Amino acid sequence: PKVIFSGIQPTGIPHLGNYLGALRNWVDLQNASLSTSDELYFSIVGYHAITMPQQPARLRTERSDMMATLLAIGLDPHRCTIFHQDQVPEHTELAWILNCITSMGKLNRMTTWKSKLATAKNVSDTTDVDDKDLSLGLFAYPVLQAADILLYRATHVPVGEDQIQHLELSRDLADAYNRRFEKRFFPLPKHIITPTKRVLSLRDPKSKMSKSAPDANSRVLITDTPREVERKVKKAVTDAERSLRYDPVERAGVSNLLSILAALRPPTQGNTGEGEGEGEAKQDAQLWADRLNAEIEATGASSGQLLKATLTEAVVETLRPIQEELERLRKDPGYLHQMEQLGRDKAQTVARRTMSQVRKSVGLA
Ligand code: TYM
Repeated sequence: PKVIFSGIQPTGIPHLGNYLGALRNWVDLQNASLSTSDELYFSIVGYHAITMPQQPARLRTERSDMMATLLAIGLDPHRCTIFHQDQVPEHTELAWILNCITSMGKLNRMTTWKSKLATAKNVSDTTDVDDKDLSLGLFAYPVLQAADILLYRATHVPVGEDQIQHLELSRDLADAYNRRFEKRFFPLPKHIITPTKRVLSLRDPKSKMSKSAPDANSRVLITDTPREVERKVKKAVTDAERSLRYDPVERAGVSNLLSILAALRPPTQGNTGEGEGEGEAKQDAQLWADRLNAEIEATGASSGQLLKATLTEAVVETLRPIQEELERLRKDPGYLHQMEQLGRDKAQTVARRTMSQVRKSVGLA
C-alpha cells in the first residue's frame, strides 16, 4: 500500500494554482483510497511558513483557517491524517539529523532558494546583497520538507511542478540515510503531479500563479466572491485573435484559461480530470477551444469574452460548495480544535515510532 504525504504553507488563502495543482488531487487520492489500505497524511507546515517573516497574530489565524479550508475542500479527518506540522516536534528533530547529511552545495542549487536570492538582490538598492539577508531556515527549507515526508516513510507525494526539485532532494536524502545508517529504512518518495501542475498568473502568464505576487488580480483565491472572480477573470491577459486555440507558447494567457477551464469542467464524458497524462490535458483544453469556437462562429461573440464568461461560471460553481462549508466550519472552532487534536495524535504516533528507530540507527539516545 502507498503512504501518501503532502503539505501546504499556512500563508494566506489557497489560490486556484494550489487547488488544481495539489489540494483537489489530495481529495481525489483520498477518495480513490477507499478500496485500498493506502495511508494519507496532509500537513499544514507552520515551520516552513516562518522561514520568511510572518506576523504572529496573522500566522495564528491563517494556521487555523487552513485547517478549516482542508476540511472544506472535502478531506475527511477520519480517513486522512490532517495535522499541523508544528504540533509534532519530531519534524524538526529529523530535519536536524538530515541537515547533518546534506551538503551546502546541494542546497545552493535549489531553484526556490536561487529565486529568493535573486528577488532579495532586486529589491535592494545596494549591489552587495547576498545570502546574508536571507535566513539559515530558508536555506534549509528543503531539508525540513524531506523530513516531513520521511517521518511518515511516505512513498508518494502529490505536489505542483514547483516542488519537483525538492522531491528529488528528498529522494537523495532518503538514499543517503539508508546507505549510511540503515538499509532500505526510508522508501524513496515519488511525486504525483496533476495535469494542471503549473497554473499561471492571470496577469503575467509567463510566471506561475503565486500567493506572494504583488498584484492580487493575478490569482483567484478559493474564498473569492462571484463578483471578485468575475472581476479578476475579466482582467486576465488574453489576446485579440478571433478564435481560440490551445498554444501555451504563442498564446500563453488564453491557454492558461483554457487549461483551468478544462480542469474544472472536463469536456469529455467519464473523464474526471484525475490521473491523466499531460497529453490528455492538452487535448481537453483544445476540446474546450473547439467547443467555444463553434459558438463564436454561430453568434459572432468575442473569443476573449466568451472564454472568460464560461470560465467565471465554472470557477464560481466549483467554489460555491467549498465556501459554504468553509463558512460553516469557521463558526465551529470547537470542532476544528477537536480535529486538530485528532490529527496531531495520529501523526505523532507514527512520528515517534520513526524517530526512536532513527535515533538508534544514528547512535544517539
Ligand atoms: P505551497 O504551500 O507553496 O503550495 C502548496 C501546493 O500548491 C502547489 N502550487 C501550484 N500548483 C500548480 N500551479 C501553481 N501556480 C501552484 N502554486 C502552488 C505546490 O506545488 C504545492 O504542492 N514546500 C511546500 C510545502 C511542503 C510540502 C512538504 C509539500 C512542506 N513540506 C512535504 C509536500 C511534501 C510549499 O511551499 O507548498
